[in-house]
Amino acid sequence: MAESPSRPNIRAMARSDLDQIVAIDVKVLGKPRPDYWEMKLDIVEKHQQISSLVAELDGKVIGFIIGGASRWEYGVPEDIGWIDTIGVDPEYQRMGIAKALFAEMTNGLKKIGVNTIYTFVKRRDWRLLKFFDSMGFQPGDMTNLELDI
Ligand SMILES: CC(C)(COP(=O)(O)OP(=O)(O)OC[C@H]1O[C@@H](n2cnc3c(N)ncnc32)[C@H](O)[C@@H]1OP(=O)(O)O)[C@@H](O)C(=O)NCCC(=O)NCCS
Repeated sequence: MAESPSRPNIRAMARSDLDQIVAIDVKVLGKPRPDYWEMKLDIVEKHQQISSLVAELDGKVIGFIIGGASRWEYGVPEDIGWIDTIGVDPEYQRMGIAKALFAEMTNGLKKIGVNTIYTFVKRRDWRLLKFFDSMGFQPGDMTNLELDI
């Protein structure tokens, strides 16, 4: 996708993006997770069915998304895709960055045979709920279960 002032370049995540991604992650999640991101990049590099994208504006990474086709996790078949991580630098939110990342991810997933996307959002995370609602998501077919041990 070509870059313009209101439209960032969406490209594959690279290992050299790690520091900028961790910095955004701290802003949106409140804690640094460099090990998590190292692990994610390792997985992405090894597995073709996982896709990771960043949004870049003027050479600066301002958002990211990770998703991929299911490999029967939780019994979910391969024509289902997962979005497991999305984040946009707070300074650039409400500018359509997540929407652009999501559109590019969706196009890629369609090409590998995915026709439905699953994601998990905390029940009270209104911002993420509103974002996914605006992308057209509906409550899905999975039920989450938990047990204190
Ligand atoms: C949710 C998030 C990804 C949205 O990113 P964004 O780039 O601001 O989203 P967009 O600008 O593409 O928004 C698209 C639509 O989603 C909805 N939306 C997004 N953020 C919203 C908000 N804070 N309140 C209400 N609606 C919102 C709107 O309908 C919006 O369209 P509009 O601006 O034309 O009204 C961003 O707020 C974020 O990074 N939140 C933290 C996510 C997180 O906790 N990640 C942890 C790891 S998974």
